Amino acid sequence: MSGLLAGKRLLVTGVITDASIAFSVAKLAQENGAQVVLTGYGRLSLVERIARRLPEPAPVIELDVTDAEHLAGLADKVREHVDGLDGVVHSIGFAPQSCLGGGFLDAPWEDVATALHVSTYSYKSLAMAALPLMQPGGAVVGLTFDATKAWPVYDWMGVAKAGLESASRYLAMHLGKQGIRSNLVAAGPLRTIAAKSIPGFEQFETAWAERAPLGWSLTDQEPAARACLALMSDWFPATTGEIVHVDGGYHAIGA
Ligand SMILES: NC(=O)c1ccc[n+]([C@@H]2O[C@H](COP(=O)([O-])OP(=O)(O)OC[C@H]3O[C@@H](n4cnc5c(N)ncnc54)[C@H](O)[C@@H]3O)[C@@H](O)[C@H]2O)c1
Repeated sequence: MSGLLAGKRLLVTGVITDASIAFSVAKLAQENGAQVVLTGYGRLSLVERIARRLPEPAPVIELDVTDAEHLAGLADKVREHVDGLDGVVHSIGFAPQSCLGGGFLDAPWEDVATALHVSTYSYKSLAMAALPLMQPGGAVVGLTFDATKAWPVYDWMGVAKAGLESASRYLAMHLGKQGIRSNLVAAGPLRTIAAKSIPGFEQFETAWAERAPLGWSLTDQEPAARACLALMSDWFPATTGEIVHVDGGYHAIGA
């Protein structure tokens, strides 16, 4: 088997449609020699249907990242398909409606707690659940939306992403001794289910169209997926706690 990820075994979370960033990651990973196991949340039969559109059939394991039993059983379920993991992709985010679209000042703690549990804490939970299957050289990769700034309408999801960025650095610190890396890809706006659930998401679309030096496609998940693959490959062996921007260069440009 040839390709950037030849022989690597990956666990990919976050496929819900074929527009999911995770779908592009899984597809490109298979095309580049990896064996892929997916996890699905909630609508398992839908995820299984989408999984059949991949170049190779990929098994789907049920995983709600807030469910302690699912997390505890994950390693054994993955072992039914592969004998270890070289890479884990966290492509998960959720915030209740009150937390988005300008509701920052009014969102109740219960809703904020849900956003942080699913979108931030789960990065550590997923990594720990997969850890028994990992060896030195392994990598965990997640997806963020540049959290160094406050964005209109992103509100508590922005706070959750700031936490995710920090959590990735802490994971890098704690898992470094075991030779395991943790890195994030900061993607520009992409039209996925998660994005469509943000009222006012169009504001990002216009901003990127006007300012990204390289231009930006709202419907091309491949650049972000390619960066995820690169970070899980053997070509970033000494990089951890890093955030790679895949945003057409938007982050580098002043207003
Ligand atoms: N779309 C964008 O503009 C954009 C930009 C930057 C970063 N991101 C991030 O990329 C990641 C993937 O999102 P996407 O844009 O591909 O959207 P998506 O809607 O296709 O994927 C989000 C996934 O999160 C999963 N999920 C939600 N709650 C879960 C739970 N409790 N347990 C397990 N899984 C759960 C959903 O099932 C879904 O598969 C997210 O972290 C998102 O914040 C997206």
